[in-house]
Amino acid sequence: MATDTRAEAKVKSFGENMESDLALEFLRVVEKAAIASARTMGQGDRPLADQVATEVMRQTMDSVPMRGNIVIGEGERDEAPMLYIGEKVGAEFPDGRQVPEIDIAVDPLEGTNLCATGAPGAITVLAASEKGGLLNAPDCYMEKIVVGPSCKHAIDLDAPVADNLKNIARRLQRGVDDLVVIVLDRPRHEKLISDIRKAGARIKLIGDGDLSAGIAAAVIGTGVHCVMGSGGAPEGVITAAAIRCLNGYMLGRLVINKPELEERIARMGIKDKNRIYEAQDLAPGKQMIFAATGVTDGALMKGVRFFGEGIRTSSVIMTLKTGKVRFIDSIHLEKGADVKVRFA
Ligand code: FBP
Repeated sequence: MATDTRAEAKVKSFGENMESDLALEFLRVVEKAAIASARTMGQGDRPLADQVATEVMRQTMDSVPMRGNIVIGEGERDEAPMLYIGEKVGAEFPDGRQVPEIDIAVDPLEGTNLCATGAPGAITVLAASEKGGLLNAPDCYMEKIVVGPSCKHAIDLDAPVADNLKNIARRLQRGVDDLVVIVLDRPRHEKLISDIRKAGARIKLIGDGDLSAGIAAAVIGTGVHCVMGSGGAPEGVITAAAIRCLNGYMLGRLVINKPELEERIARMGIKDKNRIYEAQDLAPGKQMIFAATGVTDGALMKGVRFFGEGIRTSSVIMTLKTGKVRFIDSIHLEKGADVKVRFA
């Protein structure tokens, strides 16, 4: 009898510790989406690459025991057929046990162009938290600066670029000329790039993917010290989830430069359009799961590799409350009598 009660209590609590209960489920979601989109690598077909990642992510999420609510996704309901904002995903337990309510921010294929051209840095990615744990950000740009743990509070979005770089260099105990800053290669960043060059720091211009760049900046040993410039606000929220798990630091401010956007943020309940957000404001959840799989090779994860007997994927799963950063190398074996597993 006592055993039954214990078992019952354990069963009832599924999802209370969503990080432990769901981290591996979300790993499955990003892995499957990465495998699907990697099949389209280099085909020059952006919409197809994104479509397959989205479809597979959506489908796999429907096997995860949760009441999932997409807070950041592929767009509004009328513009995205799947993983739209407000879409409900997940599965119930057949025996009626309770499943947790989870808010989810997805970017099924971050770096669609990178995948379509076979360039480095494409990932499948999501962040999940308890209800209310991720800001429902509008689909606009966000000015961002992302740095690692040593540079907490050393940056200011309104300070001159040279001052920020000097402060980062001081915290990292090196010269400004030793720093590597990642910037999205866009005409809007012309002045920023020129200011960084004048300050003497090194620059890595990227075609796409400021989300994975932000994660790299928060991890020691990647050779990246900072990400600067404006990129997607939704990507900013997902970056913030990772930054919280990595104990890094970021600042972000929405770029509200059109009347439609003013109306949009008012509808979303955002009162101060000039607010400067820290990671904690963008992803305030107490429990947080960040999951990403490399589609093409990147700083932290290798791209998907297909070989005769299976598929190899490289992922990162991070959790906030339980304080885990797991780099996961998975081999997905084809079913067959002769299958072999290679160590490296
Ligand atoms: P996708 O997810 O659409 O591939 O976005 C890639 C990306 O480069 C993001 O990393 C970045 O935040 C955003 O697009 C920048 O937007 P834009 O291409 O309009 O400058």
